[in-house]
Amino acid sequence: MSNNTAQPGAFEGHKKLERNVTLLAAATLAVVAVGGIVEIAPMFWIDNTIEKVEGMRPYTPLEQAGRDIYIREGCYVCHSQMIRPFRDEVERYGHYSLAAESMYDHPFQWGSKRTGPDLARVGGKYSDAWHVDHLKAPRAVVPESIMPSYAFLAETELKVADPAASLATLRDVGVPYTDKDLASAAADLKAQADPNADAGDLAKRYPKAQIRDFDGDPTRVTEMDALVAYLQMLGTLVDVNSAAAQEQLTQGSNGGEKGR
Ligand code: HEC
Repeated sequence: MSNNTAQPGAFEGHKKLERNVTLLAAATLAVVAVGGIVEIAPMFWIDNTIEKVEGMRPYTPLEQAGRDIYIREGCYVCHSQMIRPFRDEVERYGHYSLAAESMYDHPFQWGSKRTGPDLARVGGKYSDAWHVDHLKAPRAVVPESIMPSYAFLAETELKVADPAASLATLRDVGVPYTDKDLASAAADLKAQADPNADAGDLAKRYPKAQIRDFDGDPTRVTEMDALVAYLQMLGTLVDVNSAAAQEQLTQGSNGGEKGR
């Protein structure tokens, strides 16, 4: 090409690159790697990719057991736990979900199939009795429901092989359980669903923990107790509408959320 004669050196270099496939592959890799490094490398140096919000705490052993049942029964196959920032979702389910609200979920339960309603803020929406009736026989409460019945949960005593070990495992992946939490795990598990038990400092270690009989049978702790305790906690930990939360939301890097 005649118009390249102004830079003969650069032209020669490019000609070489185009004709040698190994050299071209190596050079392409080098160029693409720059993009990759620019995107990935900062992740290793910034402390946290999730903005901290007030109120988020690790789940109690009972909530965690309920969450395990939620996963075991495949509730996530029909239910998401992530309210997207769209007007229809926010009006139906409440404030859109914050990243911090699932920071202690391993694995997270955002889900992608929305056969049933989103459950990210279902806590406090219904009474315990409603949940128990609904889980036992969904169509008794919502006639057009296609949700399966989970009546057996109320008949199944809650058995967690080693509550302390499951918290310890979560601690290994970054959930800040204390030694005291681990030592009290088995006692906490029972006490949260037993109105007659001495819950000790459970409510102090787990702020906003709801301590009561959930399944309507105070004589024993069932899988229903654990699942309902979990559902009643969902979305209740972070006060998303408080002034402090709003301020945190509109601060710093999160410019895109400003003015909502
Ligand atoms: C086959 C799909 C399916 C599965 C699996 C399923 N659900 Fe549902 N769920 C639905 C549908 C559909 C609705 C809406 C009708 C109703 O309320 O029953 C619903 C409603 C609900 C509601 C009421 C939500 C609201 O805001 O009104 C809760 C709570 C709930 N499900 C919990 C669960 C739990 C816990 C499990 C697992 C033990 C589960 N679901 C499994 C389909 C499903």
